[in-house]
Amino acid sequence: EKVTISVIKADTGSLVGNHIVPPIFEETAEDILEDSVDEIILDYHVTHVGDDMSLILLHNKGEDNPEVHGLAWKIFQKTTKIAKDMGLYGAGEDLLSEDFKGNIKNMGPGVAEMTINVRQTEPIFVFAADKTEAGAFNYPLFQMFANPFNTPGLIIDPAMHMGFKFEIWDLDNHKKIYLSAPEDLYDILSLIGSIKYVIKRIYPRQGHKIPENEPVAVTSTERLNAEAGKYVGKDDPVMIVRSQKGLPAAGEVLEAFSFPYMVDGWMRGFHWGPLMPVSVKDAKATRFDGPARVISLGFQVKNGKLYGPEDMFDDPAFDLTRNKAMEITDYIRRHGPFEPHRVSSELAQYTTLPKILEKLKDRFQDI
Ligand code: 13P
Ligand code: 13P
Ligand code: MG
Ligand code: MG
Ligand code: MG
Repeated sequence: EKVTISVIKADTGSLVGNHIVPPIFEETAEDILEDSVDEIILDYHVTHVGDDMSLILLHNKGEDNPEVHGLAWKIFQKTTKIAKDMGLYGAGEDLLSEDFKGNIKNMGPGVAEMTINVRQTEPIFVFAADKTEAGAFNYPLFQMFANPFNTPGLIIDPAMHMGFKFEIWDLDNHKKIYLSAPEDLYDILSLIGSIKYVIKRIYPRQGHKIPENEPVAVTSTERLNAEAGKYVGKDDPVMIVRSQKGLPAAGEVLEAFSFPYMVDGWMRGFHWGPLMPVSVKDAKATRFDGPARVISLGFQVKNGKLYGPEDMFDDPAFDLTRNKAMEITDYIRRHGPFEPHRVSSELAQYTTLPKILEKLKDRFQDI
């Protein structure tokens, strides 16, 4: 059984500022997807985090498929129309072009897709984050697939002891590099410690039961503001991770989110703050338009079905992480418009700040 899992996300408008996807969007998406089962897709699930709706699609049409991408495009156009009619905030925010030519990539929405040969048991996780950007999954992916302090399976499971191969993208220069853990560990960290470099995919290595060319994790890497050429909101990335049987166990995948690490985004895309793992019911943006949140839905894939979802962060086991995230929120907020709460000048070039600096340009004098 060979299937493709596509997670395609977009912010096409939100109820009350950049707060949440209105339920009517998800109902609209579900109606269209239900009609597409057997025609284009095998199964689907619609979810959201904050103002970003994710379409989780199971199909056998492969990656970059015009029909599958077209289906997502049709849904996002329809929800944009609803958003406009309702006067919702940011109607069509992530749709940068009207002109769909068969691939939704580089048009604004975020895309994470992988084609896999379904194993006897195939547990997968879909992650979606709001108020942050591509690269926000570097830290947890490193934890899951390279750090034995997070994933003891790297030490004790012979099926994964050989480590994993990381495909890392330099988004500014449109280049990619393959580095393998454990031997390239320091080189991997020298890159992915900066969000300039983004882990695109992770692959198994020679000797693994899964073929070397079949990804075990994939993230969306679309940089919305670079594509738009101006600030239109954050990327709010999505990710798919496979698990168990030579891969990180479910609990090793989730453990990577037990520390509310800092990500950039949040208010006006201009601030660093903690990433808070939440259940779908708490997946909204409130305090200072955040703090940035991540959801995790678990599925078992089999027989062309997505069995689930399980709302993985809907659990008191993550309460301490959430409390810590709110403590960090309180602490870092006190910096107001000062670094390191405010992003560096380099990152601020993708916000609305350059307009202010342009205005002040002529008032600078020699010293
Ligand atoms: P079970 O014994 O509950 O199947 O769990 C196995 C395991 O390895 C958990 O990480
Ligand atoms: P989104 O990227 O989630 O649309 O939020 C934009 C923003 O500027 C929030 O303050
Ligand atoms: Mg928005
Ligand atoms: Mg958003
Ligand atoms: Mg947005």
